[in-house]
Amino acid sequence: MCGIVGYIGFRDAFSVLIKGLHRLEYRGYDSAGIAVIEDGIVGFKKSGKVSDLEKVCEQHIFRSRIGIGHTRWATHGAPIDCNSHPHYSENGKLAIVHNGIIENYHSIKEALLLKGHTFSSDTDTEVLIHLIDEIKTKTNLDLQDAVRAALRKVVGAYAILVLDEDNPGRLIAARKGSPLVIGVGNNEYFVASDATPIAEYTRNIIYLNDNDVACVNYDGLSIVNLNNIVQVPFIHELELQIDILEKGGYPHFMLKEIFEQPRSIRDCMRGRLYPDEGRIALGGIKIYEDFLKKVNRIIIVSCGSSWHAGLVGEYLIEKYARVSVEVEYASEFRYRHPVIDQHDLVIAISQSGETADTLAAIELAKKCGATVFGICNVVGSSIARNTDAGIYTHAGPEIGVASTKAFTAQVTIITMFAFYMAQLKQTISKNHLKEHLAELNLLPELVELCLHCDDKVKKIAEKIKSSNNCIFLGRGSAFPVALEGALKLKEISYIHAEGYPAAEMKHGPIALIDEDMPVVFIATNHSSYEKVISNIQEVKARKGVVIAIVSESDTQVNKIADYIIEIPEISEFLVPTLASIPLQLLAYHIAVSRGCNVDQPRNLAKSVTVE
Ligand code: G6P
Repeated sequence: MCGIVGYIGFRDAFSVLIKGLHRLEYRGYDSAGIAVIEDGIVGFKKSGKVSDLEKVCEQHIFRSRIGIGHTRWATHGAPIDCNSHPHYSENGKLAIVHNGIIENYHSIKEALLLKGHTFSSDTDTEVLIHLIDEIKTKTNLDLQDAVRAALRKVVGAYAILVLDEDNPGRLIAARKGSPLVIGVGNNEYFVASDATPIAEYTRNIIYLNDNDVACVNYDGLSIVNLNNIVQVPFIHELELQIDILEKGGYPHFMLKEIFEQPRSIRDCMRGRLYPDEGRIALGGIKIYEDFLKKVNRIIIVSCGSSWHAGLVGEYLIEKYARVSVEVEYASEFRYRHPVIDQHDLVIAISQSGETADTLAAIELAKKCGATVFGICNVVGSSIARNTDAGIYTHAGPEIGVASTKAFTAQVTIITMFAFYMAQLKQTISKNHLKEHLAELNLLPELVELCLHCDDKVKKIAEKIKSSNNCIFLGRGSAFPVALEGALKLKEISYIHAEGYPAAEMKHGPIALIDEDMPVVFIATNHSSYEKVISNIQEVKARKGVVIAIVSESDTQVNKIADYIIEIPEISEFLVPTLASIPLQLLAYHIAVSRGCNVDQPRNLAKSVTVE
């Protein structure tokens, strides 16, 4: 949801910024812009992709060592050139890039209009830079103090970078509610929404905290909070590997990430799963073991694919650990006055660790006294830092906007958590647990086998690519997989798709079925096999086109379905992960064959840092 990047040092700032914007483009791709300081501020912005911005910049010979850049996901104002960032003060001497929303921008704008300011965009961001300018001019405050004074008047969320041509050796960076990290190099600094533009230059990272205002110079940096109290930065070591940020020979990040899943799942289980001992160890939440033994209600809050992973958790935790689980959309939970207290455990699941609604749900849960865990992919993210304890998914950076490897890593973590709880509460026999963990340990190899269906799925995709609608059906823990399959398809191919519990089909969706309606079933040979077969018959009786994901040993579905995709013979608790793989590939191949941009689908963003 908008990516920002800044640089100050000895390199060509333009090249660092453009490369950084390409890395951040997954966060938003409506428009892009940069500003650098040469003799004065020089800026370019353009609606469209970062590559469109590059074309606009072609004629200019850049010669700057300091600058800021932005890639936008529009909130206030349409994605047109004038609303693109950077935004400027009226005299053009100050430039800002911003990720977030200034909620009270309207009242600030009215006050500034009365003082004679004129605006050239519809954005909240332009209001903020005018406010900083107003304060700086009227009070003679130094740049960092003027930014601080302006931010004290602001309600909302922001990560900002400010340039001032009167202070050509300074970059101001501030955050509240939106992420911002500083990379510390040798005589150079990088600032960005996440570490992806920084990783190739330095491994030393400072995560700014809410209310921090940093002043970054060529030879050092200082951080104060909004109340001007000095903050001592802590330098973390970044683990991110550069090759993971490249496509590595794949045509799209999404396909690369789908094929990375054997590795990402192995990384996610490493050091946590001890199959020989029949034991799970989750170091990040170990000190809560006594609490977990007593807890009798778990509430999972999340959004999007992470919410689907939470639903899988509901099935598995209740089945194996016998603890009641509720799964809530974070955006609903935060506003519906939920009844929670200090006896409850709230688990926030989030790939980015920055989703605004999930963060707000965490705050609410903490206020009510609940213990809050995070299951996050991005190390050092806001959710990881704002929760009492947590479990990282370690899937590595996910660049494709449609979640794939992060989702299966979340499902793997929640599966391990279910067994961990069962182990603590002794709701599963030692032998049974050992058997299950031995099978869980094989998951990376099983996913590898599943990926062999790629060619077959591609052929099926060709057959159904022209459909306007599609239904996904599953029962039990395969129901969230049906939801996830439908979400994948709609977000990247723009085909309308719905996921339903297979039995619920009769209460509505069946009315839609005719010879033009593909219906994807998850029909593995587990607890509801016979019932799902009846549902398939019902679809066939209405001439629907059935694509079924079945177990290798299947003997019945293959006689009635139009197309089958086999997955290895496994226990039911592994179905959510394994059945997800062909559905990811199906969505991918359909989207590619329809000519869609699978890594950057329209209107979407990877990280939703606004409500
Ligand atoms: C966006 C992304 C989804 C993601 C959802 C929740 O909609 O496009 O892929 O599932 O946000 O994000 P989170 O980072 O909290 O998992």
